[in-house]
Amino acid sequence: MPLLAGLAGAAVTLIVSACSAAAPNGAVPAVAPPGLAQERFPKPQRPVASIISDQWAGEDSRERAGEAAKVMDLLGIRPGMTVADIGAGAGYYVGRLSKRVGPGGRVIAQEVDRRTIDRLGRRVSRERLDNVSLVLGEPHDPRLPPRSVSLALMVHMYHEIEQPFGLLANLVPAMQPNGRVAILDVDGPVLAHGTPHALLSCELAAVGYREVAWHWIEGRSIYLAVFEPAAEPPAPERIVPCGVR
Ligand SMILES: C[S@@+](CC[C@H](N)C(=O)[O-])C[C@H]1O[C@@H](n2cnc3c(N)ncnc32)[C@H](O)[C@@H]1O
Repeated sequence: MPLLAGLAGAAVTLIVSACSAAAPNGAVPAVAPPGLAQERFPKPQRPVASIISDQWAGEDSRERAGEAAKVMDLLGIRPGMTVADIGAGAGYYVGRLSKRVGPGGRVIAQEVDRRTIDRLGRRVSRERLDNVSLVLGEPHDPRLPPRSVSLALMVHMYHEIEQPFGLLANLVPAMQPNGRVAILDVDGPVLAHGTPHALLSCELAAVGYREVAWHWIEGRSIYLAVFEPAAEPPAPERIVPCGVR
């Protein structure tokens, strides 16, 4: 239990690291086995944005715009669901999701950056979000427990995923039947911290995902795209990166 060892009495569950750890409250499956290896996947044939911040924008302005409420309503997030916030960052969505899914639900706040999830763990403890678990993943593997997630949410982070094909393929076993993956991003260049719609559709389709809904969140610049994951993703060696089609 390396990451949150100092958080005595924390109401937080840390599920992962390189090996799996037991979830003390048993609320989520204890094991998040590694998925397929990074080296098996093709690299994206386009730039990847650097990780420069743990939040998209200040929480006050996002709250004034009603961002989280709008997104949760569009996605039909309701009590009892298990929602993974992949690339949770500073946690703008985490507390709001926690409240929405309620004591019978669970939020899995997932990150790839150890210091970010450490900070987030302290916030979750401070705010006593008892239904939140923390997972430290890898750029190609979210390391979420098998069949645990009814909705995986990725907000303003897709363009930063170093190995998107691996992450999408390794996410599939974590999804419950009829689960959905929702991606919110700017419809703009990757190096300007966005993901153009055509690129997003192409990369998701390359791993067998099917787009089932599309919403504009802010004018025609920020979208929320919803996908049905592949029943069985293609073998990594068969995935064709979008730039080389
Ligand atoms: C711009 S922040 C957005 C954070 C939050 N979702 C929000 O809306 O404010 C992007 C976050 O995604 C994380 N990230 C980047 N690549 C990731 C990956 N492959 N898996 C999980 N998290 C990742 C970064 O560490 C960073 O905290």
